[in-house]
Amino acid sequence: MTITDKRNRFDISTGICPISTEISTSGHLIIGGISTLELVKKYSTPLYVIDEETFSFRSNEYLNSLKKYYENSMILYAAKAFACTTIFKLSNNLGLGLDVVSGGEIFLALKADFNVKNIYFHGNNKSQDEIEFAIKNGIGKIVCDNFLELEMLQNCANKLNRSVDILIRLTPGIECHTHEYIKTGHLDSKFGFDLEYLDDVLSFIKNKGTNLNLKGYHAHIGSQIFELKPFQDTAEILLEQFDYTKKEYGIELNELDIGGGIGISYLNEDDPITIDEWAKTTTDFIKAKCKKLNLNLPKLICEPGRSLIGQSGVTLYTVGSIKQVPNGRKFISVDGGMADNPRPITYQAKYTAAVANKMNSTETLETVTIAGRYCETGDLIIKDIELPTVKAGDLIAVFSTGAYNYSMSSNYNMVPRPACVLVKNGKSNIIIQRETYEDLIKNQLIPKD
Ligand SMILES: Cc1ncc(COP(=O)(O)O)c(C=O)c1O
Repeated sequence: MTITDKRNRFDISTGICPISTEISTSGHLIIGGISTLELVKKYSTPLYVIDEETFSFRSNEYLNSLKKYYENSMILYAAKAFACTTIFKLSNNLGLGLDVVSGGEIFLALKADFNVKNIYFHGNNKSQDEIEFAIKNGIGKIVCDNFLELEMLQNCANKLNRSVDILIRLTPGIECHTHEYIKTGHLDSKFGFDLEYLDDVLSFIKNKGTNLNLKGYHAHIGSQIFELKPFQDTAEILLEQFDYTKKEYGIELNELDIGGGIGISYLNEDDPITIDEWAKTTTDFIKAKCKKLNLNLPKLICEPGRSLIGQSGVTLYTVGSIKQVPNGRKFISVDGGMADNPRPITYQAKYTAAVANKMNSTETLETVTIAGRYCETGDLIIKDIELPTVKAGDLIAVFSTGAYNYSMSSNYNMVPRPACVLVKNGKSNIIIQRETYEDLIKNQLIPKD
């Protein structure tokens, strides 16, 4: 056990906590005007908490920054980050569009009365049924990923006698790892058309794609990006294809979709770019490039997920057993883990946590590891974090869990998924119910023979 002489002064002003975060005089963590202890008393743990104010604030930051620098633009909320009817409704009301990747996400969007014209349907292996479902329901644009899909789209459009607006997903040869990126001549990716195939795509559209209206190009080079340049490089490569398409095929494109949004803070040392910086530099670049290529300014589309919903989310857990390994780590086990947050075990994602009932503690901190409850040695939510001494029953808050937590959750070990509650101005509402044991077995059948 490492003992440090630091005092626990958890800084709630960083981009890790929801913007409504406060600490009560009794040292309790407050989100959306409600004590997390009260939330837990009412809804139990594990509990996903979503702060509506943070989601609206981040969404408006994107919408306003982009409008400020570039009138003709649209922000799509990437549903995969957190797919939920209430968040879809909020997104629609805020004026966001939606990026979906499955029939299920389309179904959810329809249930949320999302404006179908503002929905873009992505995915590298859409089924015939999903394509039909999308077209029948008037989904705004389909982002075509491969030749099989191109054929299916054309057949479906013919069969339903509809004309379908499409974007083509291109693989621009930019590879992004968190905090760094490289440009590669060839990118080994399952997504999108390699640039070498663009002529084949355009010939298909010109000759056979009678019911397909090519509106523009799309690329998504990666997530959790901390640099400005990759967004400009993506736009540059796509705009060069706009130019080529106009010159060689006489097709003028009007939609430039540069994929997901900027990275966010998970740790205090993270220093993401700001939405305003991103909007200004990206749009300055696009305007200059269009001028150089003599192109009309296209509609600019971006599809952030993590940077809209990530900071809004906090997961609350109750501490259970505590194990001190002789001369080794101290494990603090909580009542959730890899099934409600698979990111640490899947790609060693890092998080920050605090003891929600001891936010003002000035106790000496100790280095502990927050372990999940699932039967995998690797089910560790945070390795080696400094916390005040915790005991069974204390409440752990893990921050920045709004994106890719609930949406990637599972029922591993037959554990019901947690509830999700939306908080704002001292009010809380369940937006996703806690699963029950009955929910876990509702699809299981025993053959009669
Ligand atoms: C095509 C596409 N668009 C948008 C996103 C959202 O990315 P982010 O959550 O980093 O903004 C993703 C994420 O995987 C994606 O694949």
